[in-house]
Amino acid sequence: MGNPRPGSKEVKECIAFFRACQRQLGHKKLLVDAAGGHGGIACVFRAHRRADRAVVVDLYQPTSFNNLRSAWTESDESVKYHIADVSSPGWLASLLDKEASNLEPSEIGVVSCHACSLLSDELIRACTGSGVDFALMPCCHGEDSRKGKMMLNTAKMLGIPHDVLIDIARLGIIEASPGYKGSMRSIDSSITPQNRVLLGLRESEADAEKRETARSASLHRLARKYRHIGIPLGKDILRDQRPAKTLLMCSCKYCPECPHLLAQHRIT
Ligand SMILES: C[S@@+](CC[C@H](N)C(=O)[O-])C[C@H]1O[C@@H](n2cnc3c(N)ncnc32)[C@H](O)[C@@H]1O
Repeated sequence: MGNPRPGSKEVKECIAFFRACQRQLGHKKLLVDAAGGHGGIACVFRAHRRADRAVVVDLYQPTSFNNLRSAWTESDESVKYHIADVSSPGWLASLLDKEASNLEPSEIGVVSCHACSLLSDELIRACTGSGVDFALMPCCHGEDSRKGKMMLNTAKMLGIPHDVLIDIARLGIIEASPGYKGSMRSIDSSITPQNRVLLGLRESEADAEKRETARSASLHRLARKYRHIGIPLGKDILRDQRPAKTLLMCSCKYCPECPHLLAQHRIT
């Protein structure tokens, strides 16, 4: 089944994918290579000691897997094959129950090189649902659906490649997933034109706090820019209409210099 010896394109791809995301993912106790085919990605992570063990998940096990595993890893036990459908709900949670019940989500990573079309979306959902770090390089973009047509028309209108738009939209989904930071990297396009790697990394508490502070500060700056439009500058228009105590100074940390903002705008 399949080519027993992956070609040089596949070998280069595995190494380039590894280089694009290994530092961000960090060392993992368990790495899941989803829709992994020949399992080369899992083997490269093992060969570089960036994972203690790995499980390759696919609908079938090609003959190339055993060949790559014996060429690139020291022991057969450290990279296993698991037959499963990664589009079925709950596949990752049940695999982790079986393989990683003693591990924290932070100790687990999911990678997928050329996850076809909607499989990439399913993998993003599964990984964010299980709270694990992930790196995916999508391929075969497009879907036969209202959303698929909408993306196609939007890309045409903007004059940008359809697959680029889809991956940018996926980046937005990752970034908007609670507890996640999204980012995109790429590998050399001469290896494959489907060369964008989407990363979803768990957000630390400190990062989440920084994100919230930056969000509040931006919203506040924006509001401050427009708020005075209805209040003539230099004048206390409310002085004669309300008791003086309603004219509280804004004491928020973002605009210590604005004494005339009302208490209702205070965000600290
Ligand atoms: C383009 S190949 C990529 C294989 C490998 N990751 C690589 O980089 O060469 C896509 C792989 O996804 C697998 N696949 C497709 N649908 C799947 C599904 N629903 N569940 C698990 N694997 C699937 C295929 O069997 C195939 O091995």
